[in-house]
Amino acid sequence: MHPELVLFDEDLRGPVVRFLTDQVTGDEAKAHDHLADHASGGGSSFVAVQDEVVGIVTVRWRSNNPALGGIPLVHQISVAAEHRGDGIATRLMDAAENLARAKGHPRIGITVGLFAEYGPAQRMYARRGYVPDGRGVCRGATPVREGETVTVDHGLLLWLIKDLDVPGDT
Ligand SMILES: CC(C)(COP(=O)(O)OP(=O)(O)OC[C@H]1O[C@@H](n2cnc3c(N)ncnc32)[C@H](O)[C@@H]1OP(=O)(O)O)[C@@H](O)C(=O)NCCC(=O)NCCS
Repeated sequence: MHPELVLFDEDLRGPVVRFLTDQVTGDEAKAHDHLADHASGGGSSFVAVQDEVVGIVTVRWRSNNPALGGIPLVHQISVAAEHRGDGIATRLMDAAENLARAKGHPRIGITVGLFAEYGPAQRMYARRGYVPDGRGVCRGATPVREGETVTVDHGLLLWLIKDLDVPGDT
């Protein structure tokens, strides 16, 4: 049985916040933060549902990172551990990119961490055509300098961008 993909609406807030809290944030307030811009139209999510929420992709339509020039950002993609490897993230990413195309966005960004926990995501983004933005490794939004000593944790990132091949884009 394949999970159904649905666009987030407020009826789903309870189960989505539970999923985000359990799988991603560990904290209910931070889970609500992922959805904070949805009511104003500043963000959208697709949710994979199979009896319960089993995956989510969340898009912020204007990235907070000035270096990205305000393009949309996939700011969360997560699939429940017991449902991984079944193509759910692929379907969620397809849905998010298609919605971005339909809204006329020529590019979309994403971030990825550097250690093994992010291995599946690193491979998925590369296979889908996400390319590093050229600023190298960043601590959050700020590039790390040559010679700097850093801790490899969830805040040490590469920023990646995909061209969405929107008709009329040069
Ligand atoms: C990354 C994640 C969302 C992938 O979800 P998924 O539903 O298992 O992914 P899919 O089955 O659609 O596979 C998509 C691609 O991911 C990569 N991938 C998935 N599982 C992988 C694994 N165990 N090892 C290596 N690559 C893997 C592959 O490139 C795969 O495509 P392919 O099968 O054509 O090679 C999931 O592993 C996850 O939730 N991880 C924890 C959260 C996370 O890291 N999120 C990203 C934050 S940047």
